[in-house]
Amino acid sequence: MEPNAAFHYTGDIVGSALRRARKILADHTVDVDVPGDLPMVRVDPVLFEQVLFNLLDNAAKYAPEGSTIRVRAESNGERVLIKIADEGPGIPQGDLERVFDTFYRVRKGDHVRAGTGLGLSICRGFVEAMGGTIAAENRTDHSGAVFTISLPLLPNAPNLKDMK
Ligand SMILES: Nc1ncnc2c1ncn2[C@@H]1O[C@H](COP(=O)(O)OP(=O)(O)OP(=O)(O)O)[C@@H](O)[C@H]1O
Ligand SMILES: [Mg+2]
Repeated sequence: MEPNAAFHYTGDIVGSALRRARKILADHTVDVDVPGDLPMVRVDPVLFEQVLFNLLDNAAKYAPEGSTIRVRAESNGERVLIKIADEGPGIPQGDLERVFDTFYRVRKGDHVRAGTGLGLSICRGFVEAMGGTIAAENRTDHSGAVFTISLPLLPNAPNLKDMK
């Protein structure tokens, strides 16, 4: 796959994914913290929006109604990290890596939350095609899963601060 990558503001990409996911997020509180002065990231906006959408879809599906889904972005100088954290049951420790496998679902018999088990393998495929990584963890401050997308900062990335 040759992604159609270009520089984008993290906030713009997150904003459009949130708009697209508005209906499925209606029963949750969404807490967004994406600083406007983050360096731009080089991503394919269509693929990246699909990645965020799949993660938001999971958070909405696996965490109870009324709970809070946190979307945070930060830069550590070398990478931009985008984290989606929920207040659901989290993921069994032994499944944290396997959830990215094609068709892998933790709760096999759960027909209420019907899914194909493809969402996260698509996320990993797209993120890696854009030069990034994606990993799952459990929260330490609360029950729930955290998915972290990490994108490399390119030396020539435009930065809003430099344009002022
Ligand atoms: N936020 C989450 N909290 C708890 N479990 C999760 C979460 N996200 C994913 N999982 C677990 O990982 C499995 C794989 O997720 P994935 O998105 O690939 O598939 P799916 O949601 O079952 O189906 P699809 O996304 O294809 O509709 C899920 O079935 C679920 O067991
Ligand atoms: Mg899913």
